[in-house]
Amino acid sequence: MRHEDLEPYILHAQELKRRYAERIDIRVGLEVDYIPGYESDVRDMLNTYGAQLDDALLSVHFLEGKGGWRCVDLSPEDFQEGLVDPYGSVEAVHQAYWTAVKQAIDVDLGSYKPRRMSHLSLAHKFQLKHPLKNPQRFRREVLELLDAIQQRGMELDLDAAGLFKPDCLEIYPAPWIMAEAVKRGIPFVYGSDTHSVKGVGQGFEEAQRLLTAAGIVPRESR
Ligand SMILES: [Fe+2]
Repeated sequence: MRHEDLEPYILHAQELKRRYAERIDIRVGLEVDYIPGYESDVRDMLNTYGAQLDDALLSVHFLEGKGGWRCVDLSPEDFQEGLVDPYGSVEAVHQAYWTAVKQAIDVDLGSYKPRRMSHLSLAHKFQLKHPLKNPQRFRREVLELLDAIQQRGMELDLDAAGLFKPDCLEIYPAPWIMAEAVKRGIPFVYGSDTHSVKGVGQGFEEAQRLLTAAGIVPRESR
């Protein structure tokens, strides 16, 4: 989103919230990127607009790669060229990703810092094309950051989009991470992460099934 589009977006969302208040519970929100080195910019943005938000997610999409910041979730080819090639291995990219997620959990972004981490295992998006040699290679790092999420009273987004990505076919976070989060009592909130009307509610039943399998009774239905 361009900076000049932010305020119109919030005003438009608030207008829709008012207009449909009797029919739909609309919450005005943002998915906020954590990019190392840009903490003060994000903090300033949240201090300006945070009071107008009902909800927000904190995400890591970018790592420093070939030629600058690269999205981890653009395409398998871009993942290879922009990240795996300069880092030297898929393992090294995942290491950098989990380090950035831990920083996002720990960073001070002010009093409007989002309390929910989104698509925690986004680095798995192209896992069928770029697999880890050992899928449990980062177990220790992931458990440490789940401990940090628990200690800070944060939540996790249960993002169904990964189920529909052909090189992922797995919910974010991965089911083993979900199970560890459940053990720690970390709350989940379902998200479709859809970018179109067609995907609203996608994977909802599967998300419910996975939560139930992990030992949680989903509190609300659609
Ligand atoms: Fe995202």
